[in-house]
Amino acid sequence: MSAAKYDFDAGIDRRGSGCEKWDDLEHFFGARDLLPFWVADMDFRSAPEIIEALRKQVEFGVFGYATEQTEKYRAAVANWERKRHGWDVLPEQVGFMPGIVTGISVAVNEFTAPGDGVVVQPPIYPPFFREIRNNGRVVVENPLVETDDGYAMDFDNLKDALKPGVTAIVLCSPHNPVSRVWKREELATLGKICVERGITIICDEIHQDLVYSDAKHIPLSLAYPEIDSLLVTFVAPSKTFNIAGLRSSAWIARDPEMARRMGRAFHRFHMSGLNIMGLAALEAAYTKCEPWLDEALVYLERNRDYVEDFLREKMPRVKLKHPEGTYIFWLDFRGYGLKNSEIMDILVNKARVALNDGSTFGSQGEGFARLNVGCPHSQLEEGMNRIAAAFEGLRRP
Ligand SMILES: Cc1ncc(COP(=O)(O)O)c(C=O)c1O
Repeated sequence: MSAAKYDFDAGIDRRGSGCEKWDDLEHFFGARDLLPFWVADMDFRSAPEIIEALRKQVEFGVFGYATEQTEKYRAAVANWERKRHGWDVLPEQVGFMPGIVTGISVAVNEFTAPGDGVVVQPPIYPPFFREIRNNGRVVVENPLVETDDGYAMDFDNLKDALKPGVTAIVLCSPHNPVSRVWKREELATLGKICVERGITIICDEIHQDLVYSDAKHIPLSLAYPEIDSLLVTFVAPSKTFNIAGLRSSAWIARDPEMARRMGRAFHRFHMSGLNIMGLAALEAAYTKCEPWLDEALVYLERNRDYVEDFLREKMPRVKLKHPEGTYIFWLDFRGYGLKNSEIMDILVNKARVALNDGSTFGSQGEGFARLNVGCPHSQLEEGMNRIAAAFEGLRRP
């Protein structure tokens, strides 16, 4: 491998920068001086090419309305999908939106009716539940099943759950929080079930670029093209390039009617344009920053391997199914027989670290906490050592 070009080891104290992960610790955890492993962004500086694109805008010094002729930017998204994922997307099949949770909410509103059931597969990123309920729809759970090899979708249960009045599913691919990268066959099986029953799939692929060397992300539309007339997919440079605060994301619909409906739905709320900084960052990310991403992935994979080895050797009572993608890992503390409030108490008050409470991901998260490894290795090491020390000596249930 060639020498590293980017410095992911540099520790950054983000306190006081107006960021959620470091500046909101006191609000959410009741203490300011914790080491944060919660909010899903990374403690790395952005790629120099993104910083340069933003610097140019800042130095120009005028921040008026961004162009509405977004062909160049939509082409950047389409080209990225083609090059990185082998998915044939055209610029006219792409539209913009500030964030993916926004997209989920708008799509639920557009493609389902009040009172409809919408399927989620918990444990799952909490806003999936929230946006369905906020729109007056009913959450229908199809929990993932735990196997020795990892988590899997429960297709038999799904078929039973898809009763009349259940009209959509919100899919997370790759899956937050269990770090699964769904295989082509799994996606095709899901697609087939949904096509047979006319179920819309709202497909959140925000983590599509964050996949380790032993897995491969397949866009759902590529795994099962027959689903296109029932599918909208969400992608973004936000997680991939650590620019979530710039609020620039995209929807993709290959089917013209789905694209028309998505375009119209965002237009209704005057929400289809990006801010001028977000557009500049998105373009730079998708056209110039692949080398940065490739190095970031090597670095994150080293962090993943470290956590797996650490747990095996130093905390064997904490289990982790092999993470295939994402930098947020689903730690299973059930071996301690503690309630979530007790696990969180030990993490916050003894280890002085901030992880996400597993129970916010659904009832399947009882006994779990989510760990973010998107940080310098030394920070991760410090956090893991503190966690191990805090749990040391606890008796078996
Ligand atoms: C699966 C998933 N979807 C969406 C988001 C957030 O997206 P946005 O900030 O664009 O709304 C996250 C952030 O962690 C996520 O993990």
